[in-house]
Amino acid sequence: MLVEGPVEIVLDDGTVARSERFMVALCTCRRSRIYPWCDTSHRPRERAVPAPEDRNPS
Ligand code: FES
Repeated sequence: MLVEGPVEIVLDDGTVARSERFMVALCTCRRSRIYPWCDTSHRPRERAVPAPEDRNPS
């Protein structure tokens, strides 16, 4: 979720996270390693490219 900054976010434990950026991405999935900020961990991981012999099963 993109929000205009600066922002202050009060976390569940009462601590406050601050950002002075003009636009900031908030994490709404809780997977971010820098929560409450989004680090794009919400994106699906890319699959490895299958080996050529696995592409056309017969
Ligand atoms: S919304 Fe959680 S990492 Fe992006």
